[in-house]
Amino acid sequence: MIDTAPTTSQTYSQQSDASAVHTDRYLLRTPARRDGYDIWQLISACPPLDLNSVYSYLLLCEHFDKTCVVAETDGQIDGFVSAYQPPGRDDVLFIWQVAVHERGRGHGLGQRMLTSLLERPNLAHVRSLETTVGPDNAASRRMFAAVARNMGAGIEESPLFEPELFGPQAHDDERLLKIGPLRPTPG
Ligand SMILES: CC(C)(COP(=O)(O)OP(=O)(O)OC[C@H]1O[C@@H](n2cnc3c(N)ncnc32)[C@H](O)[C@@H]1OP(=O)(O)O)[C@@H](O)C(=O)NCCC(=O)NCCS
Repeated sequence: MIDTAPTTSQTYSQQSDASAVHTDRYLLRTPARRDGYDIWQLISACPPLDLNSVYSYLLLCEHFDKTCVVAETDGQIDGFVSAYQPPGRDDVLFIWQVAVHERGRGHGLGQRMLTSLLERPNLAHVRSLETTVGPDNAASRRMFAAVARNMGAGIEESPLFEPELFGPQAHDDERLLKIGPLRPTPG
């Protein structure tokens, strides 16, 4: 009898995720419910990202999986991007958090996860990325600059969430970056 059951989480993912792509080392795939806690652990290891509740990562896996991606290798999650389409703005993908574990940094994984989202058929109509960055997050700024450069797109920066909007907890200014146009519009 042929055993068709997946032997690892990776093979399970490959079988069930039509938008999965491979890099040399990683499987980039849509997150599933079982990934929520692993994502929380990854984020907790990636300052200066805000660590949200495990529940919030479960919700992202459950309801926003089509616009989020995880990078998996040997059953470990080393990368994650959370994103969503702002209501009524189908041509925009808003990137919330991008995290790459220290052991996976410096090899283009952050950038590759972002482009893998844009390659998904359900996001084919996206024309610009939006995100926010802190003033001192050089790695994040360089990563988004590299994405813009590689897609021949421009970057506009403007104020969005000033520090006082975060209440008494100390939080950096979060400035809005708009990257686009990502693809020529038809005609
Ligand atoms: C930001 C982060 C996701 C980058 O991941 P990565 O896979 O190492 O990034 P990439 O290899 O795709 O790099 C893309 C570009 O950013 C640059 N970059 C990456 N890390 C950098 C760093 N620490 N300092 C300066 N530039 C950096 C790369 O040199 C590359 O630019 P280049 O093409 O001009 O050479 C990762 O460092 C991280 O998880 N940091 C902690 C969490 C965070 O700050 N997330 C971003 C906020 S949403």
